[in-house]
Amino acid sequence: MGNQSEVRKNFGLKASNYRLSTTHGNPVDLERMVNLLKPQPDAIVLDVATGGGHTAIALAKYVNKVVAIDITPEMLAEAEVASKQSNINNIVFQMEDVHNLDFPDGQFDIVVSRFAAHHFFNVKKAVREMCRVLRPGGKFYILDCSVFDGDETEKEINRIELLRDSSHQCSYSPRQWNRILEELPLTIQHTAFLKENYDLPQWFDRMGTNHSNQQEIFRILNNISEASKVFYPFGDDYITTYRYEILAIKI
Ligand SMILES: C[S@@+](CC[C@H](N)C(=O)[O-])C[C@H]1O[C@@H](n2cnc3c(N)ncnc32)[C@H](O)[C@@H]1O
Repeated sequence: MGNQSEVRKNFGLKASNYRLSTTHGNPVDLERMVNLLKPQPDAIVLDVATGGGHTAIALAKYVNKVVAIDITPEMLAEAEVASKQSNINNIVFQMEDVHNLDFPDGQFDIVVSRFAAHHFFNVKKAVREMCRVLRPGGKFYILDCSVFDGDETEKEINRIELLRDSSHQCSYSPRQWNRILEELPLTIQHTAFLKENYDLPQWFDRMGTNHSNQQEIFRILNNISEASKVFYPFGDDYITTYRYEILAIKI
């Protein structure tokens, strides 16, 4: 059993927050992705879990066509609004679950997914599907929330994320990502472990995290070991987070 109904419920209620999110629409992040991918004008791109459409729109400006998929209809509707506001008309929006993509093998030149893999209930199956629909020589890009390598951070920081969003599955550390991708026909070209802040209260508000869960999150952060605390400073208006970025080429 997957978490699709939880995802649909949580994102369905807060869909416009994601279209308007400055975290997801951060132009520096999007420009770094475009520079890494070096998209060609004839490329066909798959954007997996398009959310508010930021990734699809950023890439659509450079390529022939983007297919943007998501399992939450309200999110697809928001992404479509965002694309119209940006005067983009080469994105096709489609309801799909990443675990069972309805596309033939080797269909896309680029397959991307930003800020979504931590929701996939079977991440190995999801990335296998993403890899299957990518052509040999095509580019595979993931940016997602991550945690520091280590048993404590892998467990406790994910507890925090789950308290904030009940559809959260797992934010993987770099060493976990290595294991997830190791059996796929991919050559990793670039990885980056990026430090960021979640601004508060926006991070809570985006998902509507209730007050007692917010308090529990701060309790966990106060109780992690001194060794982990060094990596996770926090205050009333921020929590430290990390992202992992991967660019790979399909063999
Ligand atoms: C934070 S949003 C994505 C943000 C977006 N990629 C961007 O760059 O702004 C996460 C999205 O993942 C989608 N999602 C979660 N599980 C999914 C699945 N199994 N298949 C497709 N989409 C999924 C949710 O519906 C939600 O829209």
